Order: sequence, then structure tokens, then C-alpha cells
Amino acid sequence: MNKVFIACDFNSREQLTAFLAKFPPQPLALKLGMELIYAIGFEIISELKQQGHTIFLDLKLNDIPITVEKALTALKHYQVDFVTIHLTSGQKTLQLAHRIVQNTNIKLLGVTVLTSLDNMDVQEMFLSSTLTTNELVKNLAKMAANNCFYGVICAPSEVTVIKQHFPNLKTVTPGIQLTSDQTDQKRVATPLTAKKLGADYLVVGRAITMAVDPVAAYQEILTIFTKGAEI
Ligand code: C5P
Repeated sequence: MNKVFIACDFNSREQLTAFLAKFPPQPLALKLGMELIYAIGFEIISELKQQGHTIFLDLKLNDIPITVEKALTALKHYQVDFVTIHLTSGQKTLQLAHRIVQNTNIKLLGVTVLTSLDNMDVQEMFLSSTLTTNELVKNLAKMAANNCFYGVICAPSEVTVIKQHFPNLKTVTPGIQLTSDQTDQKRVATPLTAKKLGADYLVVGRAITMAVDPVAAYQEILTIFTKGAEI
């Protein structure tokens, strides 16, 4: 599979179908999140799997152990490839989550700190004037490593510290922008910077879905990320 996930943040089947129809037939890595799944339902997963796409189901589970256990048990039916769980769900939930997917093809990705947050946001949340996103991400990544997660979702700027302390964890990085466009994302980087920092996978939404030519934007990002150089 290729390592650039397209965030399919659409709210109708028509929009998703029209977007995918622009691409020549090829297996893509698709990230389906709450916006799409809540709008059109889970059956789309099986359809996209049948078309050969890799499915990253980004539901960001965050609940008590038994609820996450039952949610993951239900999700096994859909043969998704990647699922996200907030690492702040706590040790017991993460442990149980790992046990449920152990003999399946589902890879667990732990959400560290959302890329729409910065140091000021985490300091406000955790009543600390010194805490940094970097420290919090590192600490949460440790919980992912301790529970045999496949990887974590983090900003490109946190890849180095994660690789240094938890070399077995894969890093999946959203917050990818081609230009200095202002979005709701705060911890951002270009595809080339993410590659140079050692990110294993990219998650890219609007830089592809809102591009004038989405296929060209995707190909450009894929080439940059695969070759590690501007084209
Ligand atoms: O459009 P953009 O590239 O900013 O979209 C990023 C995607 O990655 C969205 O679907 C968002 O839900 C997801 N995501 C994120 N930050 C995280 C985890 C997931 O932006 N920490």
C-alpha cells in the first residue's frame, strides 16, 4: 500500500463517489472519518475494500474499556486495516483494545494530541504553564508502545522524539499543508518536511480534496513523500 492516506472528509456518498471517480483505477489509502461514516453509514467500507483500497477508519474511539472492546469487536466485521483510539482513553482501554484485535488484520493507531491544538491549548486543558505538546505526545506515545499499538497519530514535529524513544511505533502525521494556507490546524508541515523528519505515513485532506486538480495534488504529494525531494 502507498503511505499517503487521503482524508475523505465528505458528507455524502455522491461527493465521495465523484471524488474517487477522478482517479484512474488504482488501490488508494483512504481515511474515513466521523463526518463521512455518520452521514452515509458503515456499508461503504466493504464496498471500498472490494475495490482494493486500504481503509483507515478514523473514529477516534475514546471510552471506557468495555465500550471500546465491544466497538472493536463489531468493527472486525468490516475488515478495516487501521482504527484510531484516543490514547487518553487510559491504560485499561488500550490493553483491552490490543487484545481484541490481536489475531486480526486491524492495526491500532493511538491519537496523541490533535494537530489542531498547540502548547497554549494543552496548558489550558491540563492546568500547567509549562507543559508542551511535545512532552504530552511523548508520554502518550509511551502508552501506545506499552500496549503494542502499531503506531500513533502525531504532528510531523513530534516524529523525532517518538522515533528516538519508541522506535517500533509507526508515525502517522496529519497537519499536512502544501502552502501557508490558514486552516484549523496548528501543528503543520509540508509533505517534504514530514518526510525529512521521518514520518512513516501522511494524512492529507483538504490539500487534496479541495485542490483544483485533486489527482495532480495527490500525485505530487505521493511523489514528494516517496522520493523525499521536491519534484
Ligand atoms: O484537511 P486536513 O488535511 O487538515 O485533514 C486532516 C484529517 O486528519 C482530518 O480528517 C482530521 O480529522 C484528521 N486528524 C487530524 N489530527 C489528528 C488526527 C486526525 O487532523 N491528530
